[in-house]
Amino acid sequence: MTPTPDTGRILVTGACGQIGTELTAALRARHGGENVVATDVAPMPRALTDCGPTERLDVTDRDALLALVRKHRIGVIYHMAAILSATGEEKPRLAWAVNIGGLYNVLEVAVETGVERIYHPSSIAAFGPETPKDMTPQETVLRPTTMYGVTKVTGEMLGAYYHRRFGLDIRGIRYPGVISSETPPGGGTTDYAVAIFYEAIRSGRYTCFVREDTVLPMIYMPDTIRATLQLMDADASKLRHAAEYNLASLTFSAGELAAEIKKRLPHFEVEYKPDFRQQIADTWPKTIDDSAARAEWGWQPQYNLGAMVDDMLEKLTARLRRD
Ligand code: SER
Repeated sequence: MTPTPDTGRILVTGACGQIGTELTAALRARHGGENVVATDVAPMPRALTDCGPTERLDVTDRDALLALVRKHRIGVIYHMAAILSATGEEKPRLAWAVNIGGLYNVLEVAVETGVERIYHPSSIAAFGPETPKDMTPQETVLRPTTMYGVTKVTGEMLGAYYHRRFGLDIRGIRYPGVISSETPPGGGTTDYAVAIFYEAIRSGRYTCFVREDTVLPMIYMPDTIRATLQLMDADASKLRHAAEYNLASLTFSAGELAAEIKKRLPHFEVEYKPDFRQQIADTWPKTIDDSAARAEWGWQPQYNLGAMVDDMLEKLTARLRRD
């Protein structure tokens, strides 16, 4: 959806986060910097302030959100602000306040101001120990054991409710763990799959906080951004789900990832010291059935494990040299 005077501008919440940073850049490249308002509670980096409007926004502050949506005539919201799974276990009340309080504000403000479309991500964390772990179906048991997962399932249900009850066009993907070189993730369980690259380049040693045989679904950032924009561009009449699309891309164990890096950096050493995040990882699936995403909006991943590792090492090495 290209912003016009009728559809309004695009708002990104959580724009300083791992996905928010690169999503904002992609949206600005597509629609023009001035049409994409980047917001976050965290201080804005130059990369965001230099290329378009930015505002400080705490999504739990409904009045501030309402004022901002009116001021910038917002028509589409990418609501990326969230507390992830590991931080959510340390601070469950904060996770509920930000993830659900924030989403509720976004939905209410959208209904009040006539926002046309909302993107709200869900996660593999919506699944739980009773969910089938191999080729997890689109429709399945959603009984997570983390507060983060509870907020993701609640978010999916709230989205479906606002769609049914108020006709809001809300869309979202159950993201796998996201791997990227630009902005590090913070407070997630899948963060090891990013941290391992930083340490491979910086020190040649990494202590991994999950076991070597831990397998989780993952995705590389370019595929993440492409999937997100593709879903938001999709013809509404083809979509049979709202903010809960399964998505599959990569699947590997921590040991397989380490081995793939070691092929390129032979001196790299990894040891495994599982901590509380292992218990979280153990409740999530290994592989995902994403046939609904493929059939309804044409999803097709581009990166395999080798291509992702090559690109990550190249981009991150260049960035760490620059910084
Ligand atoms: N990557 C997230 C986490 O680990 C899952 O959505 O918390």
